[in-house]
Formats: sequence, C-alpha cells, structure tokens
Amino acid sequence: MTDPDDKTSNPRIATGARTINDLIETRLSRRAFLGGVTATTVTLAIGGCATDDAATQAAPAAIDFDFEEISRALDGTHHVPKGYSADLVIRWGDALFEDSPPFDPKRQTESAQLRQFGYNNDYLGFVTLPDDEDGQARGLLCVNHEYTSTALMFPGVVATYPDSMTADLCLAEMAAHGGSVVEVVQTNTGWKPVIGSEYNRRITPHRTPMEIRGPAAGSPRMVTSDDPSGRLASGTMNNCAGGITPWGTWLMAEENFNYYFVGEPPEGHPETDNLKRYGVPTTLFAWGQHFDRFKLAEEPNEPNRFGWVVEVDPMNPDSTPKKRTALGRFKHEGAESVIAPDGRLVIYMGDDQRFDYVYKFVSADRVDTDNPARNIDLLDNGTLYVARFDEDGSVAWLPVRHGHGPLTAENGFESQADVLIETRRAADLLGATPMDRPEDVEPDSRTGSVWVMLTNNHLRTTDQVDAANPRAHNAFGHIIQIVEPNGDFTSTESRWDIMVRCGDPSDPAVDADWNPSTSENGWFGSPDNCAIDPSGRLWVSTDGNEETGAADGLWAMETTGERRGTGKAFFRAPAGAEVCGPKFTPNGETLFLAVQHPGDGAEATFENPTTRWPDFENGVPPRPSVIAIRRKS
Ligand code: FEO
Ligand code: CA
Ligand code: CA
Ligand code: CA
Repeated sequence: MTDPDDKTSNPRIATGARTINDLIETRLSRRAFLGGVTATTVTLAIGGCATDDAATQAAPAAIDFDFEEISRALDGTHHVPKGYSADLVIRWGDALFEDSPPFDPKRQTESAQLRQFGYNNDYLGFVTLPDDEDGQARGLLCVNHEYTSTALMFPGVVATYPDSMTADLCLAEMAAHGGSVVEVVQTNTGWKPVIGSEYNRRITPHRTPMEIRGPAAGSPRMVTSDDPSGRLASGTMNNCAGGITPWGTWLMAEENFNYYFVGEPPEGHPETDNLKRYGVPTTLFAWGQHFDRFKLAEEPNEPNRFGWVVEVDPMNPDSTPKKRTALGRFKHEGAESVIAPDGRLVIYMGDDQRFDYVYKFVSADRVDTDNPARNIDLLDNGTLYVARFDEDGSVAWLPVRHGHGPLTAENGFESQADVLIETRRAADLLGATPMDRPEDVEPDSRTGSVWVMLTNNHLRTTDQVDAANPRAHNAFGHIIQIVEPNGDFTSTESRWDIMVRCGDPSDPAVDADWNPSTSENGWFGSPDNCAIDPSGRLWVSTDGNEETGAADGLWAMETTGERRGTGKAFFRAPAGAEVCGPKFTPNGETLFLAVQHPGDGAEATFENPTTRWPDFENGVPPRPSVIAIRRKS
C-alpha cells in the first residue's frame, strides 16, 4: 500500500505534520498526488480479461525473457505481450463457498463478505496440491486482502465521509480485509476457483481468533479489556506482502495498522511515545467511530497487538493463526524466507515507512524438511537483526536482542518483549540505516543474493543522502542487491550494491541509472513487490509508476552479466491499479498477479471510477482481482 500519510515517524529524521482532515481527504483520493486519470482518457484497448484464448492452450512453455516487450501507456485495461494470455481467476465478491451469496455491490453486508473473496488482493502464495482425478493441476492460493478502497467499494459514501460509514458498513469493510485461502484448479479454460473446497477460508480483522506467540506473548503491554491474557488477538489487518515457509505455512505481514485507530491515549499513558513512533493514530478508517477496540482512549494497548507477522496453516481451515512476535513489530511489508546452508530459516523483511529499516530473522533451530510438523513453532525462537548499510559496501546485521548494546533497562527495555514491541526504537538506538521505504525483500537460495525494493522517499533531503540511499527527493526508488557471503544467509556481515536507480533515464534531473540496453518501455518507478522465477530471473511490480505518466505493471529484470540492470515491460495494469503478489507456479508456466485498487484516482468513486475493470458493466464498480498469465502454446 502506498503510504498516504506521507511522513516519517523516525525521531532521527526531521519531519512535518499533517492534520487528520488532510489524511481523510488523502485516504479517499489515494492517488491525489499522482494527478489521476480521468474517465474520458480511458480506452478499452483489449476489452476485458483475455479469457477467450485459454481454451487453446495445449502445452504452454515456461514464461521466459524472450517476450515481445509491451509499451508504456495508461488505459482502462490490462496488457500482456503478444503470445500470452491473462485469465481472470477470482474477483472481489466472488463466491468461496456453496452458500456464498451473489455479489451485490449496492447491498454489501458483513455476512455476505465473510463468504466471498475479499478486497484489494496483495500477497499471493501458492501451495501445490496433488493433481485431481482428471490429472488437472491444483493448488491453494493464499491471498492477503490488504485494505479497502472505501470510496470505490461503497456507493454514496464520499460526500459525508466518515459519518456515512455506519457500524454495518464498517463491519462489511472489516470482512473485506484479512485474507483468503482458495483452492484453484487448472482446467482447459484456465485456472478456476474450486467453490466449496474443503480448504477455502476467510481470515479477517475481527472474526478470526489468533494466538499471540513468542517473546511478547503475555506481556502486560499486550493486555486489553477483551484479552486479559495478552495472548489472544481477534484478527489481523492491513496484510501487505508475505511469504510461504518451506513447510507450507503462509506468512501474512501486518503493515499500516496505524490507519485504524482514533483519538489519543489517556494523558501520560506509558505507551504514548511508542504509539507515536508507529504513527498511531493516523486515522484513515472509520471503524473507531463504532468499535471501542480502535479507540486509543479506551484501549491504548490494542495497537501493540498489530504490526506482527501472522503464520497460517492453509491446509487446515480450522487452525488458529499465530502472531509470531519474535519477528519484530513494525510496518511489515513481506516475509520471504530461505533455508541457510546450516539448515536454519532466514526471513527477510522490510519496514515500509520513509526512513525505516531492513530486517532479517534467523531461527534458532534447523528446519526439519522431512517432517514439516516439527517446524510448527520454529518461528518462536531466533534472532532478529536490523541492517546498517555502510559506505564501503558492507552490511552489518545488528542483533535486536535484549541486553545487547543500548537495549537495556536504562533505555526502558526490561525484556525481549519490550524490545520487540518497540522494534523501531530499538533499531533507532542500534544505529540502523534509515532507508527509502523498504518494500519487498526477496532472497534467492541459488545465488545467495537478496533483492531489496526501495520504493521512493521524496522527503529525503540533500544532507540526508548516504551511499545506500543516494538521491535526495527520491521520487522513483531503487533496488539494492545484498550478497550473503558464500550463500550463508545467517551471516552478520554481507555486501551490498545498488542494481538500478529507478525513473526515466532520459531525464538528467531524475539521475536514474539503468543498463543502457533498457528500452523506453523497460524503465519504471516505485518498485514494490518482486518474485524470482524458476530460472532465477527477477520480476518487479510497481506501485506508483503512474507518477511517470504510465500504468503500474510488472517488469522482468536481468540481474547478471552484461545486461545486468536491464528492465523489460511484461504487464500493464488497468488505470488506478498497482500490481502485487507476483507468484510463479513451481514449473514456471503460470504467473499469478494480484491487480489491486483498479479504478482508483484523484476523484475516483464507486459512481465514477477511472475504469470498471474487469467487468466493464455500468453500475458495477472496479473489482480487485487475481489473474493468471500463461504463454500460449
Ligand atoms: Fe502495502 Fe508497502 O505496500
Ligand atoms: Ca503497494
Ligand atoms: Ca507492498
Ligand atoms: Ca515477493
């Protein structure tokens, strides 16, 4: 999610402030700063999702780099290269269960939404299942529903927002957050959801009890009126990117949890500074008008129960998800993992805020690859590290551990629970490097490389640049490669380099840096999510490329050899949308993409979106959707 509060809460960095009214206005017009796209500029170049070609796919080859690059442009629909198809898999409001009611956008309810696919699909995990009895490939899609675009989702709410958001509408909105597990099967007309699959599940912020695990579980700072134990949360929200562990569980990263709280904590409350460091409150949702849990005056500890990574077993829809506090508390973007040579698990994570940090977690125990059940609580013990990117090209990974350096009682840390609940302040004191908004961080087990997407940071001033964040007013972001020595992902000393500085290479003022073989279509701005395909190539999706005058999309990138740093445009999103979740099936033949917040724009509403993708029907709002891209045979 783009960070519409547009600020830093890092006390090491000077900052400005905005009013709540500014923020609500921004919230309802997420793309205000982009200039937007008007409905009259939208042309439906290829007319809806390309489902017509799927039936002809016989033996598709793996997606590779030899595609014919698509052009830079912005219109109301999506585009793939010649010879590829993009099939619609599932949309917001589609049925997950036999008893799911039909999608009725003008009469949305909590009860309907709890049985339907949620809003604003972000992370996509894919867990392979055995082929079905007809020999068709199957899998579970694990989908984060990061947030809701309220103005686009509900009719008639803008003029009197937030008063227009009744308790019932807020409940419908909560039910559209969280996540979905949905079984998908590859039929001869493309990937389809299996409605009523025994695995299908909805996870939400308010109806999915979750265990709080690890060192912060049971801390008095985790206790609320609803949960005197400090060990049981009632759900998860603002789940951005994520990961699938080697044992097949799904990690949901809680990102901008500060948007859901209202008011101020009681005068002199001990959490006051902690709340401030996480930007709480930055009220963008109306839930706090109706539900005490989101009122800081009544529940000042409730925000401490968010900002974690949640582990879910998608194979068991009755399982209780677990918040893994050992992985730290921040605006978690993703949680991609790799098994280190010594068998321990390493998870890479970004804290997506201007001037916040890059982290990795190293498990204490080894992954048992023969017996997945033995890994059930592996993520409760280990060491969290935060990165310092030094000028000489080295990375020092600093342990975020109670008793280490300044992380002592003298500085208010009585325990590891305190250190983790205040991960950001601990990292400040350790001297981590403030980065240009760390988004997805992706390790590659084959090369020992780790790719860090730094999306942008226009607030960095000329006297705040450093080697790893070299541009002031960094409007377009950059991509850093970390190299772990000899592929040892547990190392505390690594190397780093910048692969590309994003933005238009033809404009000297931008100071972009791409491989010269990059075409006029191959450069982009604001990298967000990424994936590594089965042949090791990096694919990068964007959130904010519309600022360059063209749609967000997905680009393939060369990372080695003479063409290192070459981008090549593969997918273009419809107007207003960003692209999330790039996920290849293990054979590389299908690329799943999440098209998030289509139709958004400066003045976009339910009644007047910038596109009605993917249905293109009057009266039907745009619908965030998962698509499957394949090569035609
Ligand atoms: Fe949810 Fe950092 O994007
Ligand atoms: Ca995003
Ligand atoms: Ca993101
Ligand atoms: Ca990723």
